Amino acid sequence: MPKIFKSQKKEKIVKTKEKKVLFQSPRGMHDIFLPEDQCLWEKIRETAKKTADFYGYSRIDAPILEFAEIFEKSAGEASDIVEKQMFVLKTRGGDRLALRPEGTAGIMRAYFQRGLSSLPQPLKLFYFGPMFRHEAPQAGRYRQFHQIGFEILGGENDPVYDAQVILTTVRLIEEVKIKNLTVQINNIGCRHCRPAYRKKLQAYYHARQNKICKDCRRRLSVNPLRLLDCKNEDCEEIKKEAPIMIDFFCADCRGHFKGVLEYLDELGLSYALNPYLVRGLDYYNGTVFEIFGDESKNALASGGRYDYLAEALKARKSSLPAVGSSIGVERVIELMKSRGFSCAVSASPKVFLIQMGEPAKKKAIRLIEEFRKAGVKIGESLGKDSLGNQLKIADRKNVEIALIFGQREVFEENIIIRDMKSGVQETVPLNKAVEEVKKRLK
Ligand code: HAM
Repeated sequence: MPKIFKSQKKEKIVKTKEKKVLFQSPRGMHDIFLPEDQCLWEKIRETAKKTADFYGYSRIDAPILEFAEIFEKSAGEASDIVEKQMFVLKTRGGDRLALRPEGTAGIMRAYFQRGLSSLPQPLKLFYFGPMFRHEAPQAGRYRQFHQIGFEILGGENDPVYDAQVILTTVRLIEEVKIKNLTVQINNIGCRHCRPAYRKKLQAYYHARQNKICKDCRRRLSVNPLRLLDCKNEDCEEIKKEAPIMIDFFCADCRGHFKGVLEYLDELGLSYALNPYLVRGLDYYNGTVFEIFGDESKNALASGGRYDYLAEALKARKSSLPAVGSSIGVERVIELMKSRGFSCAVSASPKVFLIQMGEPAKKKAIRLIEEFRKAGVKIGESLGKDSLGNQLKIADRKNVEIALIFGQREVFEENIIIRDMKSGVQETVPLNKAVEEVKKRLK
């Protein structure tokens, strides 16, 4: 008896586990199913398309899976993304692929693989799609999230492009009625001036090693710039006195940064200099920025310049000017919602077709096509047969007109038009149904 009891218990556990797997999306991944939500997503997709079109970006769709090495070489082996957050899989053929944690590296790969450098430069590209990071899910931080990205590749390393990428990003977010954005901006130097700064920063933190957190002690040797990004209270305190990049700029970086700020001034875009802003991806040089809404603690968008990425991917031997930004779509949508952005969910049909009996059902399915051609939305419940049930549904859907089509109407080639408010019914020839409905809807 105890044996049976035990095995029954086991079965129960297996069943519960199975249920959990079958009826739950993976942690940090969400379904977008409410019509109101779909409407906001549609709005932002449309706005992205219009904004991109205006500023001259063409759409690019890269695969969601790329060779994992692309991200290891671009985001950096020591970055959180590569160390902790990538979803990596091995294919049956033995390839190591990763669900893209971000879009920029894949776009750079496509730029070279597809010979896009032969097009007029710089090339402006934009994308919209899901990204994947194995993070601890919390508000505004998911494992599957979407980005709208803008990238300007090739051409000259001109500060005007940095300003234009920021402008494009800000304008898109403003278009969905999120105002009062703050652009936090910094310049993290280039391969000529950054090493001296890095050394100074390392020395500063080295002298305070016993006061910083465990993660920062590790960062000290592998990625010292990331020390500035630590949110630990003690580390934040130490950061306040840390050396800043601006004191180490070479003439080019100083001139470039000044240029970017002057363009932003010209555009009337407000920004805040943040000398401690560094980014979680290793491919950046020069300009880096993050964009915040007034009540958002998470960045709505971020980006920067990545002139050395082409070299890091071994696509060429010299740098390729490049700058870009990505918007976190879920974060923008959350703000749209909290600010009461109203969205017109697509109108429900004003007409409902009721059919009774197999011959009527067969003709009904064809009649619906006539309404589609005429651009009149029509509701139906073709799986149901009884007049009462279908009338109830039509009533619940609040339609103005019900069309009633039974055996007799099929035989006489008529259809009944019922005004749902008054209950008045009229029989009209079947081939005049669309015309008569249109007249009444006017
Ligand atoms: P990122 O800062 O890692 O940069 O991500 C860009 C934006 O994506 C963030 O500002 C945020 O709004 C959103 N985001 C990031 N992680 C999550 C998450 N777990 N859940 C929800 N939203 C998130 C990049 O990805 C770079 N590729 C940006 C870029 C483009 N740089 C140059 N070009």
